[in-house]
Amino acid sequence: MARVSIQHVDKVYNNREHILKDLSLEVSDGEFLVLLGPSGCGKTTLLNCVAGLIEIEGGSIHIGGQDVTDLDPKNRNIAMVFQSYALYPTKTARGNLSFGLRMKGMPKKEIEQRVQWAAELLQITDLLDRKPSQLSGGQRQRVAIGRALVRQAAVFLFDEPLSNLDAKLRTEMRFEIKKLHKILNSTIIYVTHDQVEAMTLATKIAVMDRGVFQQIASPEELYDYPENMFVARFIGAPGMNFLRATIQKNGGMAARLADNSLLPLQEYPFRATPEDGQQVIVGIRPEHFSSHANGGVAFDLAIDVYEPLGSETLVYFTIADQAVAARLEPDFVKQHKDQGSLPVFINTRKISLFDQQTEIRL
Ligand SMILES: Nc1ncnc2c1ncn2[C@@H]1O[C@H](COP(=O)(O)OP(=O)(O)O)[C@@H](O)[C@H]1O
Ligand SMILES: [Mg+2]
Repeated sequence: MARVSIQHVDKVYNNREHILKDLSLEVSDGEFLVLLGPSGCGKTTLLNCVAGLIEIEGGSIHIGGQDVTDLDPKNRNIAMVFQSYALYPTKTARGNLSFGLRMKGMPKKEIEQRVQWAAELLQITDLLDRKPSQLSGGQRQRVAIGRALVRQAAVFLFDEPLSNLDAKLRTEMRFEIKKLHKILNSTIIYVTHDQVEAMTLATKIAVMDRGVFQQIASPEELYDYPENMFVARFIGAPGMNFLRATIQKNGGMAARLADNSLLPLQEYPFRATPEDGQQVIVGIRPEHFSSHANGGVAFDLAIDVYEPLGSETLVYFTIADQAVAARLEPDFVKQHKDQGSLPVFINTRKISLFDQQTEIRL
């Protein structure tokens, strides 16, 4: 096990395409760090830099306190699981698991023990004599993870390992990977574009966009205190609702919406005192609409559309010409839906505020 320290890493392709821009990140020993961001933002590139599969143009990478910036992948004490699995098609699962160890000249007995150990952990003992073509997608994925496990490396790197699986299998494997981390307590860097995967697996998430970290924080902190609108948009489904407003200081700090309704902000933890009349975006998560007062602000909102999901009902409204989604109790919606509008409260203690120009949290 080991910590990983990424300092001021730059990656430039063809002398002009600046793909990774001055990235710094600390991954503690035993941490499950998820790199989250849209397709093409540079996640795989950064993972490959940590693995040593591609060179960097600036900065340094340390693993377990050792500067590995100029070391070959095989000397970095890492094990990687690729998006494509990259299994040897002509070898059995056992052959795939043991190949790397045999190449290192490990004694046969120890190889057998490690293969057995990993196979039991991943519940693939019965499949060890099959070739990849005789395995399902989920089973191949387990073999690919097993091949990384047997190396007993200090750091595991996963590149979107579940993206080729169907939804049900993905949920199952997600659970397995989480259990695995709990058992092994190893340091993991895991790449995904799926925010649910990130939220459920990570102890810490680094949100990335266009080669720049937007925020590095725990899942809870990212969700409750997004640093900017990109992060606020990326985490949560349905996403955070955004409403244009202006700051009004007279008569107690508040946000005035376009329809002149007021959201009190007396308790909002401003980082810097806002200006009177400053144009802001108010961010409200769907679950911060409620049928209970709880000190919130009352609105009577016409229902545009509603979607009963069983445990909750998503209701779409229009506030000051802007569409919002609310997560409400099914019974409450049922009770009121015939009258076409709902008496709801917005929990103003939970809102986020962003500057309209910079989109940065206030
Ligand atoms: N060998 C390469 N040469 C030039 N550009 C590349 C190369 N590999 C990746 N890129 C570019 O780097 C960017 C980030 O790619 P990648 O790290 O694969 O993104 P992600 O994994 O987040 O989807 C993309 O714009 C991609 O086109
Ligand atoms: Mg990728």
